[in-house]
Amino acid sequence: MKRVLHALPLAAGAIALCLGTLAHSGELQSPTAVLQDLLEKTNSLYLGQSEQNLMMMDDNPSLWTVEDGEELFHTARGPNNISLEECDFGKGPGVLKGAYIELPRYFADTKKVMDLETRLVHCMTTLQGFSSDDPEVKQRHGSDSDMMKLQTYIAAQSNGMPWDPQLDHPMAKAMLDAGEALFFRRAGTLDFSCNTCHGDTDKRIRASVLPNVNSPEEWSKAISWPAFRVGHQHTRSSQHRLRGCYWQMRQPGVIAGSEASIALLAYWTDRARGAPAILPDMKR
Ligand code: HEC
Repeated sequence: MKRVLHALPLAAGAIALCLGTLAHSGELQSPTAVLQDLLEKTNSLYLGQSEQNLMMMDDNPSLWTVEDGEELFHTARGPNNISLEECDFGKGPGVLKGAYIELPRYFADTKKVMDLETRLVHCMTTLQGFSSDDPEVKQRHGSDSDMMKLQTYIAAQSNGMPWDPQLDHPMAKAMLDAGEALFFRRAGTLDFSCNTCHGDTDKRIRASVLPNVNSPEEWSKAISWPAFRVGHQHTRSSQHRLRGCYWQMRQPGVIAGSEASIALLAYWTDRARGAPAILPDMKR
């Protein structure tokens, strides 16, 4: 079997045990170790609610998705037969390390604030020459989709780093403000807003403890997507999660890549600012 990733978290775990403080450099940490650090710091009910999940995290199937994404990213594809190595995710062409935790951000070439998914679509259509109807671009969901493979690989290059969405451009700040308004906006037959369920610590729906947007440590795990959703048996994206949130509120579905979706992602990322990302994460 050429897949060797399953050995990686184990090795990282062993190194973390041996090296103690050195493991906090970020470089050596596995997503599991990032979560365990957060748990030690906070004792959060939400973070610790699934012991079984924690036990499975070193074997997170999304680690395969990362591997598949790596191969795809570096392969020449599309009508232009070019890889994504020229794609600029904000830190320069092909620079992936730490790129995801700085998104969404403003891009001068498109004059738009973009999240990971929209930026990826931009590069696949402009650089590689795919049309937006090609399955490579159009299929957004499921571990087998190119989109999830690529997103999960790119995001994993920010594991353990503190969320730091870039607000240097006024447009980015405007999107953040719009996202805040959306987060608190009550609507629909249930008259819920996101804040109704995510504004306090230890709110529950049946047995599930919900993450509090006011706790960067809890919120960091909440927004750590792509993640493996055990209940779905698939790696899922931020945009997919967001859609689920609106469904949960019985409000109309948000369109992936719409300005509203990016505004909300700008706000939710900002609320985790400074807390370390867990990428890829594993959810119930
Ligand atoms: C009716 C209560 C409710 C509302 C309203 C709600 N959520 Fe949630 N949210 C949940 C539940 C329940 C989960 C899933 C928890 C689970 O699967 O363990 C969740 C999960 C999440 C997660 C992922 C958490 C994790 O553990 O990975 C995020 C992020 C999130 N919601 C954001 C939002 C946003 C943004 C909105 C508004 C657009 C919103 N939620 C509205 C109840 C709600």
